[in-house]
Amino acid sequence: MDGNGRWAQQRSLPRTAGHREGAKAVRRVVQACSECGIEVLTLFAFSSENWRRPQWEIDVLMKLFAATLRSEIRRLDNANVRLRFIGDQRAFSPTLQNYIVKAERRTAGNTGLTLVIAANYGGRWDVVQAAQRVAGEVVAGRLQPDDLTPEIFHRYVSLADVPEPDLFIRTGGEQRISNFLLWQLAYTELYFTERLWPDYAAADLADACAAFASRQRRFGQTGEQVAGAAHA
Ligand code: IPE
Ligand code: MG
Repeated sequence: MDGNGRWAQQRSLPRTAGHREGAKAVRRVVQACSECGIEVLTLFAFSSENWRRPQWEIDVLMKLFAATLRSEIRRLDNANVRLRFIGDQRAFSPTLQNYIVKAERRTAGNTGLTLVIAANYGGRWDVVQAAQRVAGEVVAGRLQPDDLTPEIFHRYVSLADVPEPDLFIRTGGEQRISNFLLWQLAYTELYFTERLWPDYAAADLADACAAFASRQRRFGQTGEQVAGAAHA
């Protein structure tokens, strides 16, 4: 979700106004995903590198995060949304950690959209925390190093229990992954748009889905193999 600051600068507003407008875009996009039957939506809300921003901006982002969670949880729960958080939450204030735990508990049984918020998340952190846990299994004698495969390793990364992402959307014109779900994006279709996040609307999501639908996903096979399997 990139472009909040630029959206505000274009209007001679403080960057924080862009973040507030970005929170409204989150509400719109979550609703659009729920309505069109998307199973899992993961939003990169705050990266492990965002701590490098000015302290006042971090403070505003944390307040907005807590306030949005508090004000939206009832609406999300009523919409049958299951909330999940990935990332190292120990860095957050006890109040915010408490909101996170409560939001997850309250919506755990919901069967609609799974909404994953990546907060203090980094793709490299994710791989390292998985490696630490795998190393623990080896030390405990439950796993031999030679028995480790990508499939087994996958069980230890975040989101191992949901399907791998089909589509990655980055707003704001930059064309990079910026340490998002590095392991999980191995076969994900990448889609980049100039649209700034606060302007992102259901129509933009529909454009991204249409672009996705026009791609042929080969997963290492040839185009002929994939086309043949589709006709079989
Ligand atoms: C993304 O918008 C929001 C967060 C990282 C929290 P930016 O704040 O990165 O917006 P730009 O890139 O300055 O426009
Ligand atoms: Mg940015």
